[in-house]
Amino acid sequence: MMPVATIKADTDSMPLYDPRLLRELDWSQSSVTFSPAISPADPGDGLVLRPLCIGDINRGFLKVLGQLTETGVVNHEQFKKTFEHMKSSGDYYVTVVEDTNLGQIVATATLVIEHKFTHSCAKRGRIEDVVVSGECRGKQLGKLLTATLTLLSKRLNCYKITLECLPKNVAFYKKFGYSVSEENYMYQRFFN
Ligand SMILES: CC(C)(COP(=O)(O)OP(=O)(O)OC[C@H]1O[C@@H](n2cnc3c(N)ncnc32)[C@H](O)[C@@H]1OP(=O)(O)O)[C@@H](O)C(=O)NCCC(=O)NCCS
Repeated sequence: MMPVATIKADTDSMPLYDPRLLRELDWSQSSVTFSPAISPADPGDGLVLRPLCIGDINRGFLKVLGQLTETGVVNHEQFKKTFEHMKSSGDYYVTVVEDTNLGQIVATATLVIEHKFTHSCAKRGRIEDVVVSGECRGKQLGKLLTATLTLLSKRLNCYKITLECLPKNVAFYKKFGYSVSEENYMYQRFFN
C-alpha cells in the first residue's frame, strides 16, 4: 500500500489542468514578441510556468494574489475544495510562474471559460487575476502569462476573450491586442 505522505505529495502536485496545453500552443498565431526571448517553456532563469497545484498554497500563491486584491484567510481545506471544484469543472486555467530557486510563486493569471447558448453554443474566455509580485515586475512575466492565456483561449475555441482592468492598466493590455470596449462594466458588491 502507498504511504500516506506519498499520496498527499501526489495530490499536492497534481496540476489543475493538462500542462501539455501550455507546451503545445501555436505561437505563430500570436503577434506578441518578447525581448529578450522568453516562452512558457522557458520563462527565465530558474522560473517555471505551469498550471496551479494545491501545494502552491505553501509557496506564497495567496501572497502574490494579495498584491492584487483582498484574499482573506484561506486554510488548506478551503483551498483544496475550491481547487477540486475548478479542476472537475474543466473550465479554470489558473496559471502560475514559480521561482524554483526560492520555491515561491512569483506571478499568476487565470483564464476562465464561460459556456454560452448564443453564438451557436460558443465559449467565451475571461482573463482574471493577473498579478506579478513586486520584485519580479518588468521581466515580461505579466505579458507572457496574458499572451499565453489569450492564445490558450483561442486554442480552446473561444469566440472572444475579455477582461476588466483599471484605467492605469489599459496601456498594458493594449500592447498585446486588447481594445477598450464601448460597453460599461457594472457591478454590485455583496461582501469583500
Ligand atoms: C500589470 C502587471 C501585471 C504587469 O506585469 P509585469 O510583469 O510587470 O509587466 P511586463 O514586464 O510583462 O510588461 C510588458 C510591457 O508592458 C508594460 N507595462 C507594464 N505594466 C504596465 C502598465 N501598468 N501600464 C502600461 N504598460 C505597462 C511594460 O513596460 C512592458 O512594455 P514593453 O513590452 O514595451 O517593454 C504588474 O504590474 C502587476 O502585477 N500589477 C499589480 C496588479 C495589477 O494591477 N494587475 C492587473 C489587473 S487587471
